[in-house]
Amino acid sequence: MKKTVMSVGIIACMGFTGICFAEKAPAVNGAELLEKKCSTCHPSARAKGLKKTAAEWETTVKRMISKGVKLADAEKKALVEYLAKTYKP
Ligand code: HEC
Repeated sequence: MKKTVMSVGIIACMGFTGICFAEKAPAVNGAELLEKKCSTCHPSARAKGLKKTAAEWETTVKRMISKGVKLADAEKKALVEYLAKTYKP
């Protein structure tokens, strides 16, 4: 599944010279960010099994950032919003 998405991205890159969706479009989709950024050290299920408030998710995400997760401000916001909305108490 992931492979298909990636090759579509590469085709989009080559098709529209100068516009590379796969590379340039910032991933501000919370679900996508969770899979991309939060599944390298532990499975993303580590977060999915929990229920936290927005403030708690923000604390968790900040802690993960201090461990090495790279998230732009907008990405962090989108991810915290997504987590708070999807995995709430
Ligand atoms: C650089 C490695 C790394 C990445 C990337 C990472 N984590 Fe973690 N995470 C850890 C480690 C190590 C622990 C266990 C130790 C701890 O809890 O401090 C952990 C534990 C957790 C826990 C359980 C503890 C708690 O606070 O509830 C959650 C939830 C979590 N991570 C969520 C995330 C989310 C969301 C992301 C993406 C933003 C993420 N992690 C990305 C290293 C990482």
